[in-house]
Amino acid sequence: MAKTIVTGIKPTGIAHIGNYFGAIKPAIELSNKEDYNCFYFIADYHALTTVKNKQELKENSFKIACIWLACGLDPNKVTLYRQSDVPQVCELSWILSCITAKGFMNRAHAYKNIVEKNKEIGSEEDDGVNMGLFNYPILMASDIVLLNSNYVPVGKDQLQHIEIARDMVKIFNKTFGNSLIMPSAITEKEQAIILGTDGQKMSKSYGNIIPIICESNQLQKLISKIVTDSSLPNQPKNTNCTIFNLYKLFANEQEIMSFETEFKKGISWAEAKKILFEKMDSFLEPIRQKYLFYFNNPQIVEEILLKGAQKVRPIAEETITRVKKAVGLK
Ligand code: TRP
Repeated sequence: MAKTIVTGIKPTGIAHIGNYFGAIKPAIELSNKEDYNCFYFIADYHALTTVKNKQELKENSFKIACIWLACGLDPNKVTLYRQSDVPQVCELSWILSCITAKGFMNRAHAYKNIVEKNKEIGSEEDDGVNMGLFNYPILMASDIVLLNSNYVPVGKDQLQHIEIARDMVKIFNKTFGNSLIMPSAITEKEQAIILGTDGQKMSKSYGNIIPIICESNQLQKLISKIVTDSSLPNQPKNTNCTIFNLYKLFANEQEIMSFETEFKKGISWAEAKKILFEKMDSFLEPIRQKYLFYFNNPQIVEEILLKGAQKVRPIAEETITRVKKAVGLK
């Protein structure tokens, strides 16, 4: 039987090149394989843990749906939906929270990091922590279990969350009899670290991102800001640098080899940036065009999301009924 794949996309911040190569592209590639049933959702309930502005939450959710569609997600192959359109996830989350030890949740990285930071600056341990944030991993486990997911493609930063979900399934099945499917994480074997304009890992918290969707001239500006060493034009250049690292993501083998030769010959940084810009710009242009199409046709996006939710709800209902029966609520 086809295996079920579930993954969530949190609609916060601007989607960037690191997100594209780290999450979006691999998830779309998985959906092109025959043997998987893919369910990808916009984790708007999760975003609510940090976003407290209704316009922002709505816009972020819509934009992230446009990005996935623009990057090639085929709604005929992937069931794309909005988490909050499937409220059964909250019901399941409550039930799972009743079998989860609080002490266990205290050890979740995301929560622990906040506590550590608060201690460092001498604040109350739980400053800035709402219960949604604390319970984040339980809701995430519910997303996964609700759809009987076998595999969950995630970045390495999410591995602990999958471990937590697995623990919950184990405890639930032991307590109430085997009723939940055990999920496994799928991570990219060698996840390349994608560098931002300052040479550190591309991340919105470093302010060094290159968005997937931006105008050509903004892209050019961002590339011109990329930090380089001080080698002069005509001097050979080290390919272990941000410009080369980025170029490799967009170019084919042959192009990479000839770019390397140019580096050895002593291409100027200005010229190297120009070549990188042209490569990225031509790669991103069709994505931009598709994005604009969806952005300007929100009713098409809405229809895709509602259709997706319609497909998901009967599955969710089946799981909730099974779970309620198992615990004695039905
Ligand atoms: N926590 C994930 C992230 O920040 C998003 C997410 C929510 C998710 N629910 C999920 C991922 C379920 C996989 C499965 O990226």
